[in-house]
Amino acid sequence: PMKKIYLYGNWKMNMLPFEGEEFCRTLGNKMQGDIYSSEMIQVCLFPPFLTIPEVLKSLPEDVPAACGAQDGYFEDRGAFTGEVSMDMVKAVGCSHVLVGHSERRHIFGESNEIVAKKLAKAIETGLKTVLCFGETLDERESGKTLAVVREQLESAFAGLDKDKSCCRVILAYEPVWAIGTGKNARPEDAQEVCAFAAKMAGDYFGTHPKIPVLYGGSVKESNALDLLSQHDIDGALVGGASLKVDSFLGIYENYRKISV
Ligand code: 13P
Repeated sequence: PMKKIYLYGNWKMNMLPFEGEEFCRTLGNKMQGDIYSSEMIQVCLFPPFLTIPEVLKSLPEDVPAACGAQDGYFEDRGAFTGEVSMDMVKAVGCSHVLVGHSERRHIFGESNEIVAKKLAKAIETGLKTVLCFGETLDERESGKTLAVVREQLESAFAGLDKDKSCCRVILAYEPVWAIGTGKNARPEDAQEVCAFAAKMAGDYFGTHPKIPVLYGGSVKESNALDLLSQHDIDGALVGGASLKVDSFLGIYENYRKISV
């Protein structure tokens, strides 16, 4: 199967501007050959805000790689110290943004309601928006995974303009217990939730082509093939392993080597 893979790297609070520049230079050198055509892969990097300009400047133009922000606020302007608006994200040149990352939800207390407002604003601004969702360990162990996911997605979709959203929304299933723990979801569990999310998105937006669903949570070279081979997993949202070009692209190469 020749499915296109979305390889997204969330740098979190890592990478100074000069490190971002170095990364992009190496990335450009290594993303060569047929497997790196835009029909086969789409890379997007999510650096910290202050590293974004350097990344945008140094991303090579001849490879399918984009840049996005890790968050954005739902108001346009005003007295919101420390915040960055979605149109600022867009104005510096980002094409993408993450919303609802589990660290935003759990460390910074973002509710489904706030995430929904951010998603709506990002879509309205014209950004390709990666909506992150996923259950905690408690929720999984008590059998609530799909109910939690349903609620996260329903509340996020509710305020959206369906026409604008269909080609801008990207989903990322990131089980909280798999993030930064080295413990990835079993491929069949990830597949189950990603299929559920894809179906919900399909029912809601009624779109063709389908809305991409990424999996995130301890994705690395050694588990990439099993995860990315799942029918409803269109790509990976990578944290730790996205900080080095080799481990980042290695995820994709491990998949592609076997499945071309
Ligand atoms: P890790 O790959 O480090 O587990 O992080 C996943 C993540 O949160 C990506 O957004």
